[in-house]
Amino acid sequence: MTTSSSSHPSQTTGGAVAESDAHSLSVGADGPIVLHDVHLVETLAHFNRENVVERRPHAKGAGAFGHFTVTHDVSQYTKAAVFQPGTQTKTLLRFSTVAGELGSPDTWRDVRGFSLRFYTTEGNYDLVGNNTPVFFLRDPIKFPHFIRSQKRLPASGLRDNTMQWDFWTLSPETAHQVAYLMGDRGLPKTWRNMNGYGSHTYMWVNAAGERFWVKYHFHTQQGMEYLSNEEAATIAGQDADYHRRDLFESIERGDFPKWTLSVQIMPYEDAKTYRFNPFDLTKTWSKQDYPLIEVGELELNQNPDNYFAQIEQAAFAPSNIVPGIGFSPDKMLLGRVFAYADAQRYRIGSNFHQLPVNQPIAVPGGQESANHYMFDGQMAFYHSGDAPVYAPNSFGRPYSDWQGTPAETWEADGEILRSANTLHAEDDDFGQAGTLVREVFDDAARDRLVETVTGALTGVTGEVLARAIWYWKSIDPTVGARIEANVNAR
Ligand code: HEM
Repeated sequence: MTTSSSSHPSQTTGGAVAESDAHSLSVGADGPIVLHDVHLVETLAHFNRENVVERRPHAKGAGAFGHFTVTHDVSQYTKAAVFQPGTQTKTLLRFSTVAGELGSPDTWRDVRGFSLRFYTTEGNYDLVGNNTPVFFLRDPIKFPHFIRSQKRLPASGLRDNTMQWDFWTLSPETAHQVAYLMGDRGLPKTWRNMNGYGSHTYMWVNAAGERFWVKYHFHTQQGMEYLSNEEAATIAGQDADYHRRDLFESIERGDFPKWTLSVQIMPYEDAKTYRFNPFDLTKTWSKQDYPLIEVGELELNQNPDNYFAQIEQAAFAPSNIVPGIGFSPDKMLLGRVFAYADAQRYRIGSNFHQLPVNQPIAVPGGQESANHYMFDGQMAFYHSGDAPVYAPNSFGRPYSDWQGTPAETWEADGEILRSANTLHAEDDDFGQAGTLVREVFDDAARDRLVETVTGALTGVTGEVLARAIWYWKSIDPTVGARIEANVNAR
């Protein structure tokens, strides 16, 4: 920690000397304090405003800076500067839990966030992912309902197993992600010991304009490690900041965590006929069909100097995208492209992009010379002086007026309607979840899964319990029957 020289007194925010941070102004030593103690009033008033709104999901987390280095040539798939051979890019990675609030324990069972910002020469590129390759839903309109079901009951303010299972079992597309969550990945030992995934299908476009579909996989070089339910519960009571502490301390001692980035690449045309709908976020692509292609290495090597300024105020958004990388028809992704910057305008303020941690390095000369037509608002710091505030203008301020087909785009037509995604040959809600439980989990992991689900069904009764048993039997008849037997035995 750095402190200013003690020979200088502290100051008011107006820049004047603050006479005392220890003694308020009062009428005599024992008399009442007075309202014209400017420094006391400011100290109390500013303290009342120290919090910003916590992130609605993913409130509890921490992160660190580092860099990403391209080690393999993937220029045949993307022209993005950040992925060209030999390129090294500064990064910020924030880890988080999803449902817990700002002070909640790091070791509660949950999916973990893996939000990665690349400060590229072409603009900030944010890949806001999780430690699982899939998600609970495939339509963004369900997302607020899902998050509320994982948070707290309206009357008691308590978390509630019934509410969670009620939502999950009435939305069976959740099965694959719930199987991950109830498995070992729901309790990573540390953030350093887990993988990260972009989860969605994104688009890559090369210099010749050829398009590909891409999925990102960050594999931990520290090895995947997990906590048992008992370990996690003990740690939750002893040290709510266990994962935050582990990351900070490992970087402080020079033990820098690393991940290898690989991608799966699907030729553009394959999307129409692949056996799973490749834009369904509840599905993975088989690695036999689309093998991993190595891209580079991510290293975290610098702790924040200030948690609030650099982590709490970090504004990660899937809408931060760069040339050579595009979105996809995944409805979840398209919903997220709207949601994050909107949340941040509310959470941090409309000029959140002016804060140092959010400033792109891609603007030559820094924010002073950024030429966007976004003006004023709370806390506007950078501005464009008396330059025109509208486009088109005849006074020399440049503006963009290109029209045409962007490189990172796809074709769409059809009636405007409300509908589930089109099913491909092997699409259903339970198939991949069953494969995960039977073929990826070993016997011991399956035993832990059965134990964890049994525990998570504590207090769940009646219709919701019956549906939960149906849900697990649909994922895997044997696992479902074991959970049923356990539940009936208590
Ligand atoms: C339609 C679906 C979704 C919506 C509407 C949504 C919305 C949000 C919002 C509003 C935030 C808070 C942002 C902030 O205040 O800075 C957030 C955080 C986050 N979301 Fe989502 N989300 C969705 C799905 C997903 C998915 C599929 C993933 C992962 C693949 C994901 C990963 C994250 C992560 C990691 C954070 C924390 C970001 C950070 O570290 O600051 N979300 N989400």
